[in-house]
Amino acid sequence: MRTKLVAGNWKMHGSLATNLGLLHAVRDGVKGPAEVAVCVPYPYLAQARAVLDGSGVAWGAQDVSEHAQGAWTGEVSAAMLADFGCRYALVGHSERRSFFGDTDAVVAAKFAAALKAGLTPVLCVGESLAEREAGVTGEVVTRQIDAVLANSGVAAFANAVVAYEPVWAIGTGRTASPAQAQEVHALIRARFARDSADVAAGLRILYGGSVKANNAAELFGQIDIDGGLIGGASLVAADFLAICSAA
Ligand code: G3H
Repeated sequence: MRTKLVAGNWKMHGSLATNLGLLHAVRDGVKGPAEVAVCVPYPYLAQARAVLDGSGVAWGAQDVSEHAQGAWTGEVSAAMLADFGCRYALVGHSERRSFFGDTDAVVAAKFAAALKAGLTPVLCVGESLAEREAGVTGEVVTRQIDAVLANSGVAAFANAVVAYEPVWAIGTGRTASPAQAQEVHALIRARFARDSADVAAGLRILYGGSVKANNAAELFGQIDIDGGLIGGASLVAADFLAICSAA
């Protein structure tokens, strides 16, 4: 009953020239029941819209400001993203949390700002290797989610997506096993079910972290895994399309 979603996160890659081929290949190559989106760097949103508008492929941003407008040099507001036709905005990606100081509170504010502008926030959560080894994965992920629930309420998640991305699996080639991922996805869904069974049942929870064409089907076959957030493999059209087909 949940439509699967495969979202590419290009991170800081691409150029006008290379994007063109990738966007066209994705637009023309996507088949199958899963919803597909690409989250591109801000300067390329207009290009993504030009190629993808009217197609089945959505586009979005990799971050969003928590502020609506004003003297916030370098920031991009949710309304600006909506102006460029974005459907999605990632919030709380681990690279933002680790390298740019996005705290749970900031992530919660970004989530609310995205929703207010009519975007669908994709809330990224996940534990570091040290946290997994310390046995606190559940606590970490729950804390990250609770910060957003406290700010926006469970009903907000009727219009949001969660992405579970164990930090130790991002860009490392070391993916979580399907069973490891499923265990955390089930825990996440159970957390939402405590507040609303309906929201929990409808919530799409994506897995991210070294998803490739050769491991996507098994991951996406888990009962609580509703698609993927794809980094490196989203930059190669054939790989990304194979992952979309596996969903
Ligand atoms: O947002 C995507 C994730 O950070 C996963 O990246 O597929 O390159 O491991 P990756």
